[in-house]
Amino acid sequence: MPLVNSRSTVREPVIVTGSSGFIGSHLCDSLIGAQHAAGRVHGFDREPARANAGFAASVGELCRDEDVDRLKAVGGKQVVHLAAESRVVFPFAEISQFIDSNVSGTLKVLEKLQPELFVFSSSSAVYGSKGSASVSTAWSNVNPVGIYGMSKAMAELVCAEWARTTGNTAVAFRFGNVIGARCHGLIPYLVSHARCHPGGETSAQCRGGGKIVRDYLPIGYLVAILMRVFELPWEKGRMHVFNVGAGQGMTNRAVADVVARVLKQHGLDLKIDWSNPSPEAEASAVVLDTSETERRFALGAPQREEVVAAIEETTRHFIDLPQPRSAPTVS
Ligand SMILES: NC(=O)c1ccc[n+]([C@@H]2O[C@H](COP(=O)([O-])OP(=O)(O)OC[C@H]3O[C@@H](n4cnc5c(N)ncnc54)[C@H](O)[C@@H]3O)[C@@H](O)[C@H]2O)c1
Repeated sequence: MPLVNSRSTVREPVIVTGSSGFIGSHLCDSLIGAQHAAGRVHGFDREPARANAGFAASVGELCRDEDVDRLKAVGGKQVVHLAAESRVVFPFAEISQFIDSNVSGTLKVLEKLQPELFVFSSSSAVYGSKGSASVSTAWSNVNPVGIYGMSKAMAELVCAEWARTTGNTAVAFRFGNVIGARCHGLIPYLVSHARCHPGGETSAQCRGGGKIVRDYLPIGYLVAILMRVFELPWEKGRMHVFNVGAGQGMTNRAVADVVARVLKQHGLDLKIDWSNPSPEAEASAVVLDTSETERRFALGAPQREEVVAAIEETTRHFIDLPQPRSAPTVS
């Protein structure tokens, strides 16, 4: 089978969609560092890049033809597609927006840009609830419980069909819960709550009795995996799928315990009410089998201590941000 990519392609232009988001902004920083030329990295996002981001970026909407057409002029043969509606739980009224961005938006980028290498950001949400045993990437394990996970599974099928039809290459990563500066979810919620209620006078509202299990991983590890995609040879005409996580589960209560310890060191008390039920669209437990990813990328999965250190560092990052005006309601 023909292979695409040699080590030299790391210096070819890369388009990163979702470049203003959490993962996209970290990836673009690393690409600029590695490529020594900001002109080789081109971002695309509906939100502008942060000030002094150091790379060119188009502000545009995935679902608008003319916005994606403008990206064609950039001429990148490698696309990392991170732009998506990334919340797992959201109201009924937003379903069409999720399908438009996550499924039709992915198809639009593929059809219009026709890259040689397309890197797709999928999610452990495609598996649904799988218990505490680690789950392999076999398609028979895909069984999402919500629209978000289903939109990622659907987009994966779009990528696979595109690769087969065009003879180009897709690499899909099913990420666990990524943590680091600017991340979303439980950690920023808890920090923001504690800063609004520093004496622990009001409880933070969390879900599932503290028993929701996820595979948490530091952003630095995820970016290291993404950077290696450009260095490895890939068989053409198909999609390659990898789990990216630590290969171990952690409950939301265990994460909150680490956050509470760091908050306490900063004089902030955190009380949590765990009695909120999990929404139907949220899986109870998923842990990723990362053995194939570790082998292919020659990068060992993060150890438990590294994940805990990343939670601590992320907590400190959010403590140091300007004071939030009000705490959000539930996480
Ligand atoms: N962060 C995680 O833990 C995690 C886990 C699994 C999968 N993922 C996936 O990884 C990708 C990046 O995640 P993230 O955490 O950086 O999310 P994020 O929400 O921080 O970033 C997504 C970016 O995409 C942009 N975007 C969304 N819809 C768009 C549209 N229609 N047109 C143009 N721009 C649009 C947003 O403005 C945002 O900047 C997403 O596809 C997400 O589903 C993330």
